[in-house]
Amino acid sequence: MSLVQLHRPKALNALFTPLISELNTAFKALDTDPSIGATVLTGSEKAFAAGADIKEMADKTFADAYGDDFIESWSELYNTVRKPVISAVNGHALGGGCELAMMCDILYCSQKANFGQPEIKLGVIPGAGGSQRLTRAIGKSRAMELILTGKNFSGQEAFDWGLAARVFETPELCVQGALDTAETIAGYSKIAVKACKEVVNKSQDLGIREGVEYERRVFHGLFGSQDQKIGMKAFAEKKKAEWTHR
Ligand code: HXC
Repeated sequence: MSLVQLHRPKALNALFTPLISELNTAFKALDTDPSIGATVLTGSEKAFAAGADIKEMADKTFADAYGDDFIESWSELYNTVRKPVISAVNGHALGGGCELAMMCDILYCSQKANFGQPEIKLGVIPGAGGSQRLTRAIGKSRAMELILTGKNFSGQEAFDWGLAARVFETPELCVQGALDTAETIAGYSKIAVKACKEVVNKSQDLGIREGVEYERRVFHGLFGSQDQKIGMKAFAEKKKAEWTHR
């Protein structure tokens, strides 16, 4: 497992293009590193990320934004990374920071984390999936209220509403909890872990019937893996499975 920490303290980890490029490069390397099974993405105690960099965005024209497909590169985390990523959110996770946390596969936070989609206050809307992912996670009425008012919500609320899988008392416990989960995941067959991630994410795009069929095909496919034989044989022999990840 590995830990990726956003570190742009002077701007509360505001997400600007060089930071997103570095993040994408790091995740690409981790995804192909055979010694890595899962990754934790965190920020500081003060800020996971205070959003997209407002100063970088301020002077963009429509032609700049549309022509360069501004924000598209942020989707690499969700679209291309196949190993699980757990976000450990402490401090501010606002706008693009909240969206980045929601792109991860599992979201953990501490009680005082400060989430929000405040784009309405800047005369814009969420642009990195916030309107879609927040709505799917906590329901339309709550998401609509938060996005239309720009009101923040706490880590405890994120947990109570189902956005966060777990909430911790302190930032240290939150990062440690995420690392422990990453270690558990990293102990399983990488091929099965990738398949789990793929089918759960498909549930966000497909209807129940196609989703279940998709899951079944991937499940069938795993009978072609060595690790399926190893895992089931180890159970029968009461031994620990020694995964080949093939
Ligand atoms: C650029 C930012 C920033 C941001 C903070 N900073 N957030 N710079 N973009 N999103 C900078 C401040 O300008 C300041 O720099 C330094 O970080 C410290 O911030 P302060 O405001 O002095 O800290 P504090 O008083 O503790 O307030 C923290 C805060 C506030 C509540 C998080 O900084 C804030 O409201 N930030 C903006 C949050 C936001 O609106 N995010 C959404 C952005 S839009 P200086 O140089 O003055 O010290 C967005 C769009 C997403 O994310 C759509 C596509 C991705």
